[in-house]
Amino acid sequence: RNHSLISEFILLGFGNDPKLQPLLFLLFLLIYNVTVAGNTLIIALVVVDHNLRTPMYYLLGNLSFLEICYTSAFLPRLLASLWTGDRSVSVKGCFVQLYFFAVMSATEALLLAAMSYDRYVAICHPLRYAALMNGRVCGRLVAGSWLCSFLNCTLTDVFLWQLTFCDAKEMDHFFCDFTPLIKLSCSDTRTLELVTLTIAALGALVPCVLTLTSYVCIISTVLRIPSSTGRKKAFSTCSSHLIVLSVFYGAVITVYVVPTGNAPTVLHKILSVFYIVLTPLINPIIYCLRNKEVQESLQKALFKLAAFRNR
Ligand SMILES: *[C@@H]1O[C@H](CO)[C@@H](O)[C@H](O)[C@H]1NC(C)=O
Repeated sequence: RNHSLISEFILLGFGNDPKLQPLLFLLFLLIYNVTVAGNTLIIALVVVDHNLRTPMYYLLGNLSFLEICYTSAFLPRLLASLWTGDRSVSVKGCFVQLYFFAVMSATEALLLAAMSYDRYVAICHPLRYAALMNGRVCGRLVAGSWLCSFLNCTLTDVFLWQLTFCDAKEMDHFFCDFTPLIKLSCSDTRTLELVTLTIAALGALVPCVLTLTSYVCIISTVLRIPSSTGRKKAFSTCSSHLIVLSVFYGAVITVYVVPTGNAPTVLHKILSVFYIVLTPLINPIIYCLRNKEVQESLQKALFKLAAFRNR
C-alpha cells in the first residue's frame, strides 16, 4: 500500500525558545524520575509486604506498572528531542506511539473500573468478598483489561493506516495524538473520523459507566450506615481511589470532550501535559499520602532498611 508520501513529521513541541528548552528538559526529567520511582515503590511494597496481598493492592500494583509503561511511551522521546533539538519523528514511529498511548489509556480506564468493582464488592457485599474477589478473579480482570484495549486499539489502527500524508509535516503538539494526526492527512477523513471516534467513544464509555455504577452503589450503601464513624471508615478505603479517578476523568474530559475548537493550541498542550504527565505521577503520591496501609507498609520497609544498614 502506498501508505505515505512523506516519511516524517516535525513535532513542534513547546516551540523553539532556546531559554525554555533546558528548563522544560529538567522539569520533565524530574517528573519522569519521580513517576518511575514512585510507581516502582508501590509495586515493591505490594510484592514484598504480606499485609498488602489483597486484590485491592494487586490492582494498585498493576496500575502502577501500567503507569510506568505509559509515561515511558512518550516521555523519554520528548526528553531526547528537548535535549538534541531534533524534533522529527517518522510516520511509522508516530503511529506506534499513538497506538501504545491509546492502548495504555484504555487499559488505565479499565483498570480503574476494575478497582471500583473491587471497592463495590468490599463495601456492598463484604461477606461475599472472599468468594467474588481473589487473586484469580483479579488476574482475569487485569488480563481482560489489557486484552480488550489491545483489540479495541488494533481495530482503530486498521482504519488509521488507510490515511495518506502528503505535504503538511508540522504537528503542533508534543506527541503523536489522534486529532493533530488526522488534521495533517490529505485523505478524506470524514468517515474515518466518525468510525474511529465511535470505537474510541465506546471504549471510553464502557469503563466510565461501570465505574460510575460501582460508585453509585457504594455511595448509597455508605449513606445507609447509621454511625458516622462507620461511614467514614467504609469510605476511607475508597477515598484514594476516588481522587485518582477524578484526576484521570477530569483530565480526559477537559482534553478530549470539552470543545476547544477555537482555543489556542497552547492551552490544549498545557491541558495535555496535565493529562498525560501528571496522572501517572499523582497516583503513587496520593496512595502514599492518604492510604493508611500503604503508609504503614512504607514505614515498616524504611525501618527494616535502617535496621539492615545499622547491622
Ligand atoms: C497484578 O495482578 C496479579 C493478579 O492478581 C498479581 O498476581 C500481581 O502480583 C499483580 N502485580 C503487581 C505488580 O502488583
